[in-house]
Amino acid sequence: MELCVALDLPTKQENLDLIRDIKDYDVWLKVGLRSYIRDGEEFLKDIKKINPNFKIFLDLKLYDIPNTMADAAESIMGLGVDMFNVHASAGKRAMSEVMERLSAYETRPIVLAVTALTSFNEEEFAAVYEKEIAAKADQFAKDAMESGLDGVVCSAYESKSIKEITSKEFMTLTPGIRPFGEDAGDQQRVADVAFAKEALVDFIVVGRPIYKSANPAEVVRKILEQF
Ligand code: C5P
Repeated sequence: MELCVALDLPTKQENLDLIRDIKDYDVWLKVGLRSYIRDGEEFLKDIKKINPNFKIFLDLKLYDIPNTMADAAESIMGLGVDMFNVHASAGKRAMSEVMERLSAYETRPIVLAVTALTSFNEEEFAAVYEKEIAAKADQFAKDAMESGLDGVVCSAYESKSIKEITSKEFMTLTPGIRPFGEDAGDQQRVADVAFAKEALVDFIVVGRPIYKSANPAEVVRKILEQF
């Protein structure tokens, strides 16, 4: 299992301070919408300057028509990130077109599909997808695998079932992790590290429990200790 730290702080400076604080740990860094829209490619370069070994997950959750998604994926190739994601609800044709476009490159980042956002509860999810979260997440995972993606973003609660219906190698990345019973915030389906491990999760994403702590490096150390 790998730890992915979400860089969701309000300013670039605060994100960079957090990165410097945890620079000696073997973790992935997740650059999300806010940071990327505000700080762009320059921020990715700043991360590598602090420690070139940091792996970067660009969490932009692409969702558009197939050609636009494939164009965007190709632009992401130029950024040198190690992982990015799309929404599975964009459909199999869009996901396949993304993978087809990337197949022209010798190496490419890991590509994941978002199934159900971990902030959804059952009622909210049904209002959009007219199905239960677990069943729909399974279906999205199958679609993603058949489209050639490497794995999915899901909650720790869906990871095991997704591995069963796809394969053990098909990756799961789970946000909504609260390592030490911290406040869930807007997340609905939260789990701890032991649960994620048991659910065969490949990557856990942790944001607020790390960056809101008085000692982020210590929280990172304690999380890694549980691996
Ligand atoms: O602060 P917290 O640990 O809840 O952060 C979770 C991170 O994972 C946030 O950056 C959020 O955007 C992201 N995320 C999520 N649910 C998904 C996909 C990404 O919470 N399904």
